[in-house]
Amino acid sequence: MKRELALEFVRVTEAAALAAAPWMGKGCKNCADQAAVDTMRAVFDTIQINGTVVIGEGEKDEAPRLYIGEEIGDGSSSPQLDIAVDPLEGTTLVAKGLPNALAVLAVAERGSFLQAPDTYMKKIAVGPEASGRINLDASVEDNLRAVAGALNKSIKDITVIVLDRPRHDDLIARIREVGARIKLISDGDVAGGIATGLEEKDVDILMGIGGATEGVLTAAALRCLGGEIQARLMPRNEADREKARSFGITDLDKIYYTDDLARGNDVMFAVTGITGGDLLEGVRYSVNHATTHSLVLRSKTGTIRKINSRHTITKKPDYFPRNIFNPRNNKYNI
Ligand code: FBP
Repeated sequence: MKRELALEFVRVTEAAALAAAPWMGKGCKNCADQAAVDTMRAVFDTIQINGTVVIGEGEKDEAPRLYIGEEIGDGSSSPQLDIAVDPLEGTTLVAKGLPNALAVLAVAERGSFLQAPDTYMKKIAVGPEASGRINLDASVEDNLRAVAGALNKSIKDITVIVLDRPRHDDLIARIREVGARIKLISDGDVAGGIATGLEEKDVDILMGIGGATEGVLTAAALRCLGGEIQARLMPRNEADREKARSFGITDLDKIYYTDDLARGNDVMFAVTGITGGDLLEGVRYSVNHATTHSLVLRSKTGTIRKINSRHTITKKPDYFPRNIFNPRNNKYNI
């Protein structure tokens, strides 16, 4: 992949974030999601790539845009690419104005991303220093001891990020027994997974059950950051099992390692903050402009770029706050 594409991809997540952010706190998660999806899809059309959505908004019959299998780009350039997207990761976070809602995408050569069904996934993820030291099937205590050893910290100084869900009551109790610190999040385990890979963030390990598609996106980010994720699908019911089979997954006990979820030497990952949080600042508006904060990562070089952009709204007349489409020139004003 041409490295210049990294900037194109961050334009896509910036646009999705700018479209979703006006919905912050308005109580309508579908409105925010729709704005992010439509805008992300539109901006993808401005990029010269030949991509196929592998992780997206669902099956073609349930999602008009960014559905699994949708072809993206003008098809003129090679190589063929896998596209994994979550235009709005944390729909409830935006609806309630809570931190860490993100616009996210990952891109790699065709066949690199696991086509994961939209079910749950048990995950454990760490950053580069603790990579190689975790085991999805080991006890909480063993994993936390291993991570503490790798980071040269005492267990009581380890911070574990966990989705605050009743299904994690036992996990949380065990972490507390072992004495580690816990950061409970109401949503958004992609942000938690990325944070494990960034040394300036006070998160050492992600544990628990979250979305499977979010697991693939987390793996893509950790491929770039040098971290590790291990995961196993957790179908909720027979319909989930059937969905997994339809995706060609026969072994539901399989542990997926980082490379199984996001393979290849050339993974790119872009993320823009929608609501401000630990990971990234959110979209801010003033009279004439909006600012966004993003990360762009490349596995090939391991470069972490932090991109802060100032978008001049006055030069995007129909852009602000929600209507990003300019009917005057039939274009998206990004
Ligand atoms: P949405 O953006 O689809 O609302 O997902 C948010 C999220 O919190 C993910 O980060 C997480 O993986 C998943 O939902 C957890 O699912 P559930 O809310 O069912 O526990």
